[in-house]
Amino acid sequence: MMPFEGLSRRQFSGIAGSLALGISARSAKSGQADSSKPARPTNRRLASSFPSTFLWGTATSAYQIEGAVKDDERGQSIWDHHAHTPGTILDHSNADHACDHYHRYKEDVQLMKAMGATAYRFSVAWPRIFPEGVGSPNPKGLDFYNRLLDELLANGIEPFATLYHWDLPQSLQDRLGGWASRDTAKAFADYAGYVTAQLSDRVKHIFTINECSRLVHLGYGTGSDAPGLRLPQQELNQVRHNVALGHGLAVQAVRAHGRVGTMVGPAENMVTCVPAIETPANVRAAEIATRELNAGYLTVMLEGQYTDAFLASAGNNAPKSTAEDVNIISSPIDFVGLNVYTPDHYVVAADNEPGFTLAPFPASFPHMEPTWLRIGPEAMYWAPRQLAEVWGVKSIYITENGTSATDEPAIDGRVYDVDRIMYLRNYLMHLQRATSEGVPVQGYFPWSLMDNFEWSDGLEKRYGLYHVDFKTQRRTPKLSASFYREVIARNAVA
Ligand code: BG6
Repeated sequence: MMPFEGLSRRQFSGIAGSLALGISARSAKSGQADSSKPARPTNRRLASSFPSTFLWGTATSAYQIEGAVKDDERGQSIWDHHAHTPGTILDHSNADHACDHYHRYKEDVQLMKAMGATAYRFSVAWPRIFPEGVGSPNPKGLDFYNRLLDELLANGIEPFATLYHWDLPQSLQDRLGGWASRDTAKAFADYAGYVTAQLSDRVKHIFTINECSRLVHLGYGTGSDAPGLRLPQQELNQVRHNVALGHGLAVQAVRAHGRVGTMVGPAENMVTCVPAIETPANVRAAEIATRELNAGYLTVMLEGQYTDAFLASAGNNAPKSTAEDVNIISSPIDFVGLNVYTPDHYVVAADNEPGFTLAPFPASFPHMEPTWLRIGPEAMYWAPRQLAEVWGVKSIYITENGTSATDEPAIDGRVYDVDRIMYLRNYLMHLQRATSEGVPVQGYFPWSLMDNFEWSDGLEKRYGLYHVDFKTQRRTPKLSASFYREVIARNAVA
């Protein structure tokens, strides 16, 4: 049986590290009660505000919104191929047109502006720049991003670019086996260097790879994402290593080709470990768990070594790696982007090795529309705090946070997505706790600016602050867009 069979497509995040570690949920041993009293806010405005330099953005990715998949000599990506393979996408849709952002980017920049957003995280489509993955760059593809950047800056919106949000050129999949080959990591670095040289006069923040663990586990483990493969454990571990290597090589390429002031880091969906009860023992246990359960990604990126437990658990299936590889993987970064959706584990301290217990989730645990998206707003506090505490990260951006919702228009045609507002409000309250305690979070990018092509869920899963009618391409603000505008406005005057 494949290691991921029987799991929903998102459960990988909670077990990504634990599979490699052989750690399973054990019986809970409760921590001690905290006797200290919570502090009472004395100044309401202070208690609800963010730092004055805080950036308020929104986020999207190329394949999910651009459409125009054949325009201007764009090459085919693994997602074009995957989405056109029968049986892969729930509603049988694809992203050939998606939000047609390629032609409507000016209108979309105005959607951001209408909310008062000051930043925007988008991704560059590798197959637009190098249609075959390597070789001669395609100036027409690059020009789209030149136009987009100019439009953003003219509207006072700071661009944050992601280099890889999963749309690998199909040619690299066909010729090299995609991320199963180290040569893909090298090709990624060449592409990263080229894009950086061309765009870093206007983009100062560059993310290398979006969510390494999802592209590895869903792309090569369960096969629900492109390229739709189900590799055995050793090969899967090698893919994971090559992806981490690609991140490190890209960091070096950005440094080598970026203008002065260009900053670079990953955008990760860290396995978030929340202390079940906030006691010193549980907090420490959650930190140990954070380090171990992120061993294949953030831990090796930030420490330059695979943990002993990770290697022991992988055994003969451990990836082939050299000291030079891990040095590259841990090339110094300027910030970490965190995609925070849900708590992956609630942790209690334990006397046995490794010093923590992962509490099993009761079947009754509440979730948002997607069953994997358990409601745990405190994840938004603990994830960045642990980055800062465990690894001393000094600059953090929340690069995604949001939920899909049913988003049925009401009789008056408006979308009253009060469930999304409830979700965002509560996560933001915990983010505010983090910043008020000095956790260095510098910006927030909710997912997503607008409804888009949600990977294997197709066009029916809606995460946007703006509703998109995919037949007419009409964008309509949901109530959550008004909520977000209010959040930004309040903090602008705080
Ligand atoms: C994140 C991705 O994992 O989750 C986004 O970076 C994605 O691209 C979002 O759209 C929602 O995920 P899903 O699986 O519900 O489409």
